[in-house]
Amino acid sequence: MAQIQWFPGHMAKARREISERMKVIDIVIELVDARAPYSSKNPMINEIIKSKPRLIVLTKKDMANESMTAKWVHYYESLGYQAMSVNLKNFNEYQKIIEKCRTVLKPKMDKELSRGLKPRAIRAMVLGIPNVGKSTFINKLANRKATVTGNKPGVTKAQQIIRVDKDFELFDTPGVLWPKFDDEHVAKNIALLGSIKQSILPLDDLFIDAIKFITLHYPELLQQRYQLEIDLEDPDWVLDTFDHIAKLRKIKPLKGETDYDRVIELFFSEVNDGSIGRITWEDPSCIKE
Ligand code: G4P
Repeated sequence: MAQIQWFPGHMAKARREISERMKVIDIVIELVDARAPYSSKNPMINEIIKSKPRLIVLTKKDMANESMTAKWVHYYESLGYQAMSVNLKNFNEYQKIIEKCRTVLKPKMDKELSRGLKPRAIRAMVLGIPNVGKSTFINKLANRKATVTGNKPGVTKAQQIIRVDKDFELFDTPGVLWPKFDDEHVAKNIALLGSIKQSILPLDDLFIDAIKFITLHYPELLQQRYQLEIDLEDPDWVLDTFDHIAKLRKIKPLKGETDYDRVIELFFSEVNDGSIGRITWEDPSCIKE
C-alpha cells in the first residue's frame, strides 16, 4: 500500500519532469482504477499532458462491477478519449493495450510515412496515481520481477526505454501523480481502494459509509459474504452490523464489548483483496464538472 506525502514542491517537480518527457513520447497511457475511475485520476492531467494522444486504461477490472466498468469506458469515450478496461494480472490483456495505442496513433504514423519519414517505433509513457498498476504494467512488459521505481512523486531518475517489440517502446519508469486530495468524495474513494494508508476520514466513518453504499448498490454481496441483510431505516443497524460480523467471524470481544476495530480491519482487508466481491464505488453521474 502506498503512502506518499505530497507537497507543492513534489507536485511542481512531477509536473516539470513529466512535461519534459512529453517531448519524446507519442502517447500517454493513463492508468486509473476501475473501482473508482474518476477518483483515481489526477486532477491536472489535461494541463500536464496537454494535447498529447492518450489512452485511458481502467485497471483491476476483475475487482470492479462489470456493467459499471462498461459504463465508465463509455463515459470516457463520450468525452472523446480512447478508453479500455483490463486486468493486469492477465498477460493476454497487454497486447490489447499495445494494439489500442497503435490504433490511436495510426493517423500520425501514416502521416509521417507519407512525408517520407522512416517507419519507427511508437514511444509510450505510463502515468497515474499510486497503486493503479503502473509498476505491474511496466514490469510485465519489461519482463522484470519487481519494480525499481517505488512510488516516488514525479518521475524516477534512471530513464531507460524498454523495447517491447520492434514497433513499441515504453519508458521503464512511470510518472507518479497525485489524486484530488481536496475533494472529500475522492478522498473517501481512494481510501476504499486501499490506495493510501491514511484516510482523512476516521475508519469507523469510512466503514459505515462503505456498508451503506454496498447495502444500497450491491446488497447481495453482504448477504453472500456475511449473511447480512441491512435495513438502513433501523436506528440500530450500525451496531447490529458490527455485532453480526464479529459473531460470524468469531472475533473475540474486548472487555465484554464487540471489538469494533477488528471488525473494521477484517472488513477492509476483504474489501481490498476483493473477497467481498466486485464493487465500483462511483458512477459517472457523480461527476460534477
Ligand atoms: P503502482 O505502480 O501504480 O503503484 O501499482 P502496482 O503496479 O504496484 O500495483 C498495485 C497493486 O495492484 C499490486 O498488488 C498489483 O498486483 C495490483 N494490481 C495491478 N493491476 C491489477 C489488476 O488489473 N487486477 C488486480 N486484481 N490487481 C492488480 P499488491 O498487493 O501491492 O502486490 P502483489 O499482489 O502483486 O504482490
